[in-house]
Amino acid sequence: MIKRLLLGFVALLVLAVIGLFALAWRRTIDPIAPPQANSFATDLVSRGEMLAGAGYCASCHTARADQPYAGGYAMATPFGTLYSSNITPDPDTGIGRWSEAAFVRAMRKGVARDGSHLFPAFPYQHFNLVTDEDLHALYAFLMTRAPVKAATPAPDIPFPLNVRALQAGWKLLFFRDRAFAPDGSKGAEWDRGAYLAEGLSHCSACHSPRNQLGAEKMGDQRYAGAVVDHWYAPALTAANPAPLAWTTAEIETYLRQGGTALHGVAAGSMSQVIHQGLSRLPDSDIHAIAVYVADRMGGDAKRTGNDAALAQAMTRAGVPVNADIDPGAHLYAAACASCHYNRGPMPAAVRPELGLNSALTSPDPSTLIQVILHGMGTDEGLPGLAMPAYAHALNDQEIAQLAAWLRRTQTDEPPWTDLPSKVSALRTPDGGASGQH
Ligand code: HEC
Ligand code: HEC
Ligand code: HEC
Repeated sequence: MIKRLLLGFVALLVLAVIGLFALAWRRTIDPIAPPQANSFATDLVSRGEMLAGAGYCASCHTARADQPYAGGYAMATPFGTLYSSNITPDPDTGIGRWSEAAFVRAMRKGVARDGSHLFPAFPYQHFNLVTDEDLHALYAFLMTRAPVKAATPAPDIPFPLNVRALQAGWKLLFFRDRAFAPDGSKGAEWDRGAYLAEGLSHCSACHSPRNQLGAEKMGDQRYAGAVVDHWYAPALTAANPAPLAWTTAEIETYLRQGGTALHGVAAGSMSQVIHQGLSRLPDSDIHAIAVYVADRMGGDAKRTGNDAALAQAMTRAGVPVNADIDPGAHLYAAACASCHYNRGPMPAAVRPELGLNSALTSPDPSTLIQVILHGMGTDEGLPGLAMPAYAHALNDQEIAQLAAWLRRTQTDEPPWTDLPSKVSALRTPDGGASGQH
């Protein structure tokens, strides 16, 4: 009896494994002779370049600045480290032998030319929405890059999570294969913005929290804000923590210039998104994204309190009066106030007003701590402006004190917890200023 049960169990297991591999199986798409670079029209290639900017392909696919798109860029996931692929047209280590059909399948379904499943760290769940026409231009752009011979390192992910066939199960649970459908009722700009933001520019990949299997949460958790690579990407919903509700015009300025007087500057990965990616898009597309995002954030209704919020922030601005007795105030007066001091009804963009900044009002202090520890370069945030790094000048306790003081005096939010340990975690190189995806 037991023997028979056992046999039945083994048979079921075998069936399950066969079933999984049947589910996971995808055909190999035949290799082609690498297409000649001059077989692609130049205007198609330049459109592809713009779209590659919108999808930040270079940020994830470049490990060495002198070898763009050659892959090998390490991405830390909760399951281990994954390396981006070489997507130059090198025939042996890149995608030189990939037909356009193979490229389109990878972008839309996360399946490589050889039929193996790709990991969702490659945002194919978003690229799935990209039109044939745009994929055609992206293919032309990639196939005309300089080929680089560079083998992609194997993922450093423990067995069995590294079994690519298992990704078929992940896809079954979390991947919805769908084409982009314009809403139609909100106007052409909104639709264009939605197409870019949800597709190539995959804004929700950073701004939405993820579940334990690494999939973006849906429903009211979509765009609800998340820690991503040690930075905090604030909610892009009505729950956005900025003291002044974002308008279309403010979002547009932020996405185009890297900062605004009323909201502060874009640091960390958002700075890269803006300066290495979205900068390729024309103004009309940035405007379209802003229209879409402003609507997601609750539209005009939220903005009635903006004047009062600005007035309040400006009364709190300036040099603290009790710097001799409060250690946080003392640190601020000594290290920060000379540059972040503002007076009058309006702050200056070159002196980001901390009381108007999501870095202070967010539920998570990572962005504030990162900026204090590692500073900001002239190519980040508002180009030309820089902020010094305080990793050497201030110890963990001091940075924690300063962050707590800013939170207490410049916002109405509850105190952050565990600040000293968060500062020390972000001080390590891994939590450092790399700021990439
Ligand atoms: C957030 C990081 C990220 C971004 C942005 C990104 N990729 Fe990738 N991509 C990856 C990773 C990681 C892999 C490897 C996945 C794996 O090994 O399963 C990959 C794999 C690929 C592959 C499959 C290559 C192969 O040899 O299997 C193609 C094609 C590709 N990416 C194209 C693009 C294009 C085009 C863009 C821009 C529109 C882009 N990627 C943007 C991370 C990214
Ligand atoms: C690679 C991750 C990443 C991607 C992709 C990304 N963001 Fe961000 N975003 C961030 C981070 C991190 C911040 C916080 C930056 C800071 O406060 O300096 C941020 C901040 C913002 C802010 C400011 C919010 C506030 O309240 O201060 C806006 C607006 C924004 N992002 C819009 C977008 C849009 C629109 C897209 C898509 C076109 C996008 N983001 C894509 C990581 C990302
Ligand atoms: C020498 C002038 C200077 C000093 C001193 C300085 N900052 Fe800054 N800070 C800046 C500038 C300029 C920027 C914007 C940088 C950019 O856009 O690249 C900035 C950006 C920031 C940001 C990001 C704001 C945002 O909008 O997201 C924060 C947070 C910040 N500073 C906090 C501090 C704190 C806290 C101190 C004291 C420890 C400090 N700064 C000291 C000049 C300074």
